Formats: sequence, structure tokens, C-alpha cells
Amino acid sequence: MTQIFQGRSLLKESDYSREELEYLIDLSAHLKSLKKNGIPHHYLEGKNICLLFEKTSTRTRAAFTVAAIDLGAHPEYLGANDIQLGKKESVEDTAIVLGSMFDGIEFRGFSQEMVEGLAKHSGVPVWNGLTDEWHPTQMLADFLTVKENFGELAGINLLYCGDGRNNVANSLLVTGAILGVNVTIATPKSLEPSEKVQKLAQKFADVSKSKLVITDDIDAAAAGTDVIYTDVWVSMGEEDQFEERVKLLKPYQVNMELIEKTKNDDVIFLHCLPAFHDTETIYGKKIAEEFGINEMEVTDEVFRSSHARQFEQAENRMHTIKAVMAATLGNLYIPKV
Ligand code: CP
Ligand code: NVA
Repeated sequence: MTQIFQGRSLLKESDYSREELEYLIDLSAHLKSLKKNGIPHHYLEGKNICLLFEKTSTRTRAAFTVAAIDLGAHPEYLGANDIQLGKKESVEDTAIVLGSMFDGIEFRGFSQEMVEGLAKHSGVPVWNGLTDEWHPTQMLADFLTVKENFGELAGINLLYCGDGRNNVANSLLVTGAILGVNVTIATPKSLEPSEKVQKLAQKFADVSKSKLVITDDIDAAAAGTDVIYTDVWVSMGEEDQFEERVKLLKPYQVNMELIEKTKNDDVIFLHCLPAFHDTETIYGKKIAEEFGINEMEVTDEVFRSSHARQFEQAENRMHTIKAVMAATLGNLYIPKV
């Protein structure tokens, strides 16, 4: 028996091989079908899971909570104002304490170094629930959704439009490259992924034969796209940059014109969420008043269209996070992949 996942952390996608990521996506589909059929899957009975959130969250927090309970484990939420982490106590000391009580730790926050420090010092699996650099659990849900829609991943054309250097864009470029998905990032020159991220992605693309394109020409990039993906123009922690981003990213909005330019009736729309597609939020209202636009990265029309899959994608966060926890903490027999 080879336990290739047990005891491992998920800090970034590039720590996992193509076969391992594909396995986790397929395990997620299996766990999803168990859940849909009401078949119990208490693989983590008696385990305690720590949920550390420096930044806010709806999906990731809900997904870890429900997934942990479905697996028979107990989740405990510790928010930014609940604990000393980084303020009155070092990452190392916090990690040692949490690792002595919990069996696994989820961390969402700003710095990638912090999630890596928790993994280094806690002695238990640590799962990255989003940092400024990467969003690996999001990727498993995204590519599960792509696979559910197209039956395969290799050779699929994914176009990401918007802020090309945020965590989601970084993760899509690298994960797509590992999985053999062709990824185009349409973004202004000033928001291109860093050289480090591009080089890392290209290293994987050379092996998987996926084609990677970084361009500021969104129209040229659209033809033949299977998946159009976007994310907020301003990520958590950058809220002072709305004015500049709205100016820069307006031409990269996902709207029906862009959908039509794909010339693909079966194109699907994905968004990690939350999305600014109307003025039903405080930020949405403020942006409408200040800049005269009612929608940002995606129009309400696309968001509510037959192409939209963002809510299936959001549900898949739970099934994929469950797979990660079950594989890295449970006693599942997982053959070497
Ligand atoms: N997509 C995502 O991570 O959503 P939350 O910020 O709500 O967790
Ligand atoms: N790029 C976004 C993703 C939210 C899930 C952010 O970091 O705010």
C-alpha cells in the first residue's frame, strides 16, 4: 500500500504532480456522488480541524466546515481577531501549539510565507485557503467543473480576463500548465503575471504540451475558447486601488460581445466569486456612484446566462476541499498514481 497523500500539506499547486492533481479531482467527483446519494463517508472520525482566517471568506470557510463535518471531523474557526498569530505570537510558536491539538490546519491570509511557516512547524497537514500568491483549493474546484462540463481537461482552451497577477490568475496559469490545459491570460501589460510565475508555468507546459499565452489583446484571444474565467479587479487587501483598476480593466470585462467572439456556443463562464455583476453590494454601489459603471469584471447578463457555471463551481469547492482533507488526513487506500 502506498499512501502518497497522507501527511502532506497543500500549499501551492506546483508541489503536486499532474497525476496527483488529476487523482484529487477524480476523488472529489467520487465524494460528490457519495454525498448526492446520501452515502456516509466519515473518513476523518475523531479528527479536529483548525480553520485560520486572516482574510474574510464565504465559500472557503463554508466548504471546509461542511466538508469536515461530512467527514466526521470537528472544525474550529479562528478568525483574525481571535488569536495572536503574527501579532503577539510568532508563526512558529503558534504552529507548534496548534499542531499539538489539531490534526490539520487550513490557513487563509496574506503571505505565502505564513502558510509555509505553519506547515514547517506544526507537524500536521496545512491547506492553503488562499494567500496573495496562490489559491490551490480553488483550482481543484475549477478544473473539476471544467471536467464535468467537457469530460476531459487536456487540450481545453481557457481564457482568463482581468487582473493577470493576482492569486487566481497565478494559480490558473500554473495549474492549467500542469494539467495540459491551454491558458491565455488577457490583461494589460502592467498587470501581467510575474516573470517567476510565467517561468514556472512554462516549465510545466513544456512537459504537458499546453500552450500558454499572455496578451493585452482580449479580442484576438477569444476565438476558440472553451472556458472564460474572470475574477475581481481588486483583490482583498488592495481596496485602495479601485480607481486605477477600473480604468485599466474596463476593456477586459466579460460581456456578451466577448462570449460571441469565442464563436463557441458551448463556452462556459467561470468565476471564483464573489463577483461584481450588479450594484447589490456596498462596493458595487460605490463604484457605480464614483465611476458610472453598474458592473465590473462580468456583466449581469453573462452571470445569469446559459453559459454561467459559477455556482456549480462554488459548490465544487466543498467536494474538492473534502477530497484534499480525506486524502491527506484519512486512511483511504490510494494506490500510487
Ligand atoms: N472563491 C473563494 O475563495 O471565495 P471566498 O472568498 O468566499 O472563500
Ligand atoms: N483574487 C481574489 C480571489 C477571491 C476568492 C482575492 O484575493 O480577493
